[in-house]
Amino acid sequence: MYMNTEDQKKIAAEKATENVQSGMVVGLGTGSTVYYALLKLGKMLQEGLDIVGVPTSAGTEKIATAQQIPLATLTTHPSIDLTIDGADEVDAYLNLIKGGGAALVREKIIANASKKILIVVDESKVSRVLGTTFPLPVEIVQFGWESTQTEVNRICGKSTLRLTSTEAGNRHPLITDNGNYILDCHFDGIPVPQEIELQLNNIPGVVENGIFVNRADKIIIGTPSGIRYME
Ligand code: 5RP
Repeated sequence: MYMNTEDQKKIAAEKATENVQSGMVVGLGTGSTVYYALLKLGKMLQEGLDIVGVPTSAGTEKIATAQQIPLATLTTHPSIDLTIDGADEVDAYLNLIKGGGAALVREKIIANASKKILIVVDESKVSRVLGTTFPLPVEIVQFGWESTQTEVNRICGKSTLRLTSTEAGNRHPLITDNGNYILDCHFDGIPVPQEIELQLNNIPGVVENGIFVNRADKIIIGTPSGIRYME
């Protein structure tokens, strides 16, 4: 059976939930792929699963609450057994670009606190060189953001301030859950991601960037013909 992108997201996310066991503290990622894992976890809880989830965004907190997933924070649960999260781009070394959903800061904090990380994606996210199919999100503080952007552009060449629309159709800068802005940085490829990750984070005003190196344990990829893995 041929699977479209939505099917691919669903099978990857549901496959990841097979690793969730009672008693676990589970990091709950953000995005349209993880959404299917949240739905599945909701069903598993109704069938007797006993977990607590630590959400990576206000959006995920809302969905998880609707699914009656018991929630906790890093304050009460500083060590996470397993995190299921999505990604915008993945390479063959399991490096990631994240932050398309503007949750990269909390996602990286939760990744850092996690014993195991499963990344769920559809096949379109797999890339030969990171930074060739998706702009790199960089979260920056609002104060002096234009100066920060100038410094960021010295590294990536060109970036754009992420905008969002009000219901009335007016465009304004997107504000993250942490009260910051996002720059989307247009690289022609990021061959050495660990260097760019450090260089960007060294700029005053940069809070964090969406490069995740050596964090994922396994990528679960939904493809048109079924699941495949990178680990
Ligand atoms: C949010 C993220 C998401 O995991 C990433 O954007 C993937 O989202 P989706 O599954 O909707 O494509 O990093 O900050």
